[in-house]
Amino acid sequence: MNLIFLGPPGAGKGTQATRLIEKLAIPQLSTGDILRRAVADGTSLGKKAKSLMEAGKLVPDEIVNGIVDEALDLEAVQGGFLLDGFPRTVPQATALDGMLARRGRQIDAVISLEVPQDVLLERLSGRWSCPQCGTPYHERTAPPKTADHCDRDGTRLIQRPDDRPDRIKKRLEEYATKTAELTTYYRQRGVVRSVDGVGSVDEVTGRILAALGKRA
Ligand code: AP5
Repeated sequence: MNLIFLGPPGAGKGTQATRLIEKLAIPQLSTGDILRRAVADGTSLGKKAKSLMEAGKLVPDEIVNGIVDEALDLEAVQGGFLLDGFPRTVPQATALDGMLARRGRQIDAVISLEVPQDVLLERLSGRWSCPQCGTPYHERTAPPKTADHCDRDGTRLIQRPDDRPDRIKKRLEEYATKTAELTTYYRQRGVVRSVDGVGSVDEVTGRILAALGKRA
C-alpha cells in the first residue's frame, strides 16, 4: 500500500506514522526527519536546509523532490510506503506523480488528518522529540516512560527549534498558503480519506485503520 499523510504541523502525522508502519508493515518516509538528520550531521543538504527549517519555511521543491526520488529506489519501500510531510506543494505533488509513473506505481490513499488550530498550537508548544529516531512526545498528553528520554532508544529528548511560537505561526502560514490545496489536488483523484485527528492517539489510529479498510 502506497500512502500519503496530509495535515498541518502538529496534526499527529509523525505520531500516527510510527504506529501505522508497524500495523501495515510498510516504512515511513518522512522528509522532515531526513532533513533534520542532514542538519544534525552537517551535510551539504543539511547546510542548505538548516536556516529555512529553523525559520519555519519550506525547503525548495527541487531539494525535497531529489530526496524522495532517491528514497523510492530503496529496497525497503518496494512493498509500499507511508509518505509523511511530502508532498507539500502542488509542484511536489506533480513531481511525485512522475516519479511513481516512471516506476509503474501510484498512490493508493491520502489520509488527511483534520485538527483545529487551537489544538495544533497546544500540541506543538508541548512537544518533545527524539533527535535520533524522530519519535514525538508531549509533556502532558504523551510523556516518555523515563523522564526526558526516548522510550525506543534512550536518547535525551529535545524541543525542535521550529517549535518556538513565532516559527509555529510561520509553519501554519506556509501550510495554509502552499499545502492545504493538496487536499483538492488528491480529492480530484478520488483517493482522499479525511480523518478526525482530535481524540486519543489510539482513537485516531483506529479511525485511520478504519478509513483504510483495516482492522485495529
Ligand atoms: P515536518 O517534520 O514534516 O513537520 P510538520 O509537517 O510541521 O509536522 P510536525 O512534525 O510538526 O507535526 P506532526 O503532524 O508530525 O505532529 P506530531 O505527531 O509530532 O517538517 C519540518 C520542516 O522540514 C518543515 O517546516 C520544512 O522546513 C521542512 N520540510 C519537510 N518536508 C518538506 C517538504 N516536503 N517540502 C519542503 N520543506 C519540507 O504531533 C505533535 C504533538 O502532538 C506531539 O507532541 C504529539 O505527542 C502530540 N499528539 C499527537 N497526536 C495526539 C493526540 N491524538 N492527542 C494528543 N496529543 C497528540
